[in-house]
Order: sequence, then structure tokens, then C-alpha cells
Amino acid sequence: MTRILGADALSCFQVYDPETLRSMRRAKWALEGERYGAAIAEMDFVPAAPISSAIIGAVQSGDIGYHYPKALDAASEALKFWLENRYAWTVDSADVVPVGGVLRALEACLLFFMSSKKPVIVPTPAYSPFLSVPRALGLQVVESPMNSHEGRWTLDLTDIDRAFARGAGLLILCNPHNPTGTVFSRGELLALAELVESHGGRVFSDEIHAPLAYSESIDGRPMPPHIPYATVSAAATAHALTGISITKGWNVGGIHCAHLIVSERDRPAAKRLYTMLAHSASTPGLWATAAAYNHGETWLNEMLAYLNLNRVLLADLVEEYLPGVNFHVPDASYLAWLDFRGTWWADRPALHAKKRARVATIEGTDFGSVGTGFLRLNFATPRPVLRQIFEELGAAFSPATQAASGPIGIRNS
Ligand SMILES: Cc1ncc(COP(=O)(O)O)c(C=O)c1O
Repeated sequence: MTRILGADALSCFQVYDPETLRSMRRAKWALEGERYGAAIAEMDFVPAAPISSAIIGAVQSGDIGYHYPKALDAASEALKFWLENRYAWTVDSADVVPVGGVLRALEACLLFFMSSKKPVIVPTPAYSPFLSVPRALGLQVVESPMNSHEGRWTLDLTDIDRAFARGAGLLILCNPHNPTGTVFSRGELLALAELVESHGGRVFSDEIHAPLAYSESIDGRPMPPHIPYATVSAAATAHALTGISITKGWNVGGIHCAHLIVSERDRPAAKRLYTMLAHSASTPGLWATAAAYNHGETWLNEMLAYLNLNRVLLADLVEEYLPGVNFHVPDASYLAWLDFRGTWWADRPALHAKKRARVATIEGTDFGSVGTGFLRLNFATPRPVLRQIFEELGAAFSPATQAASGPIGIRNS
């Protein structure tokens, strides 16, 4: 049964009752002995009504067969409308390719545009498929550790320049960035675009977290708006391949629908890619996508207002329960990149969190070796649950627990 937390229920956006979460059939709560699921990037929020209606409507009317032009066009037109309104980004229909997921789009781009098998640059920490997908396709991956300035992570352009000079062909950009929550500024994106263009390289820009850029400041600092990489300059427009989807922003990871956006110069390629990729987009997913972009903005704004308060609470909870852990409040999305280096959990913080606090998170090393000593924690959950998670983490992390157990026990357990 789905119940709603009355106090937090807004006119349209609603969160699940904490008790409901454990019985839900969702990857985030499919746990292996832990009590709290804070690993998988899903939100513990009730889906937006326009999306549920679109999916239920598709099922009820038998619209769950193969995709067809009307459904494909509805999703693409809605995406174009969204991009125009949100980012003043005008995209030609001929440059939009429906696909079953952003990773599927990445895979296709690597196959299609990297036939010369040039190495792929992945700034790290990185969403782990950015490392594993190119490798699975036989491509060499060059990890480019990002720089952290007071907890804000940025690209190391000198290192990226070197990697292109040594023969890399493409860089995978995560904009906004998972797991650190960085929203790259126009200046940062422009500098990258100039550099990539000077080497004749390409950028696959994964913009799946774009709807989750915060507009409200929580510390008086202006919030940087999300800027689609392809819009920063003519060079970026020409060499960018953009992957985008509603699945993160509207929390519908199972709908299997996304879009690849290419530039005019890739139009002939886009035509061939269309044949290859459109088949992977699900028909209910196409209708859900159209509904989100056309009618999902109110829900998104209300959801972001809720998440923004979680962001504020999170900063307090880290300070209260995890003293010594460094953390930069993200400018986008709901993933906290917690720095346990220098604490007694530094060796494998997510393993400590799992074994000692029974909280599922993701080990920083899954995001590349630069993630050693970090863990990623999902804070898109009802605030009472977020508080419970930190109470558990705090008790397990406390000096008293350390004195009683010591760091060795965990390795032997
Ligand atoms: C940065 C990023 N890209 C892609 C995905 C997965 O996208 P899809 O399911 O559309 O392949 C995720 C999921 O967490 C993600 O965080």
C-alpha cells in the first residue's frame, strides 16, 4: 500500500511513507541485509501524475506494442519544446534520435564515432559505466582525475589536453556531474570546448541529471544554471553528442526511453543511428517522456523544493553525525559525495556503512581510484528517513564504536 507523509505532501509532489519503502519493488530498496537503501540513484518519491497517467493510459488502450512514428515524434517534439523553453536551445528534429537509454546512446556513439578505436577520456570520479562500457567495447579508457577546490570538483584541463595530444578521440562529460554534483560553468565548458576542438576530438555529454540543477541558493552563493554543453560555442555544437532523458529528473528509470542529440554535421549518421536505436525505446516510455516534458514542470519544481530542503538538512546531519567527514553541498542532483579520508572509515567507507550501520551506499572506488576514501550517499528520501540513516551512521562512526571494534574487525568479518 502506498501511503503519503501528510506533512510533506505538496499539491502535486508526494513522498512515500517510510514503512512503504521497504516493501517497494525498487532496486534502491532491494537490500542484502542492510536496513536503509541509499545507493541506487532513484528517489523515494511518488511518480508525477502526468507520467503515471501517460503510462496507465498506454496500457489501458493497448498502446504497448512496437514504437511507431506518432509516439516517436511526440517524445522528440516534447523534448525540443523543453530544451527551447528551459535552455533556449533550438534543436532540429533531424538531429534527435530516440533511444532506450543514455547508456545505450553512449554505447552507440562509441561504436559509431570511434571506429578508429582511439582511447576515451573519462574524468574521475565517474559513474562506473563510463569506465566499463568503453572497456567492454574494446576501447582504452584514460582516467583523468578531477581537481577538488574546497570540495567542488572541476575538470583538469591540462591533463585532458595531454590525453588528447596522446591520441584520445572522445571525452565523456557528465554535466551536471555524478557523483560530485558539480554544475559546470559556461567558462569551464567553453574552455573544454576550445581544447577539444583544437585536437579535433569529440565530447559525449551525458545530461541526464540536468533537470535536477538547483535554482535556490542555500548559503547566499548564486546557483549556477545548467548549461547544455552543445550550446556553449559553435565548436561545441559541432563536436558534441548529447545524451538526455527524463529518467533521473522524474524518477522513472525503468521506462527505457532517452534521446541522443547530434549536430548538423552528423545528420547522415543520425539517420543511420535512428534505424539502429529507435527500436530500443519503449512505447510507454515515449509517451511518458512526452508527458514529462509537456506537463511535468510543476511536479519537477515542487520535487526540487523538497530536495533542496534535504540538501540543507544533509549539511547539518553530516556535521552532527559524521564529524571529520568533508562534504560539499551539491549544486545538482541528490547524491552526496562524502570524503572519509582522514577518518577511521577511510579504507572502505561504504563497507563500514553497510556492515556497521546497515546503510547501503556506493564505495568511492567504484567511481575510479580517485574515489578512495569516499562514498556516495543518495539523499532523495523522506526527511524522517534521512535523519534515521544519519542516526545509524553516526552511532556506527562514533569514537565509542571505534574503541569497541577497531578497524580490523571489518576486514575479517
Ligand atoms: C550519469 C548517468 N548516466 C546514465 C545513467 C543511466 O541512464 P539510462 O538508464 O538512461 O541508461 C545514470 C543512472 O544513474 C547516470 O547517473
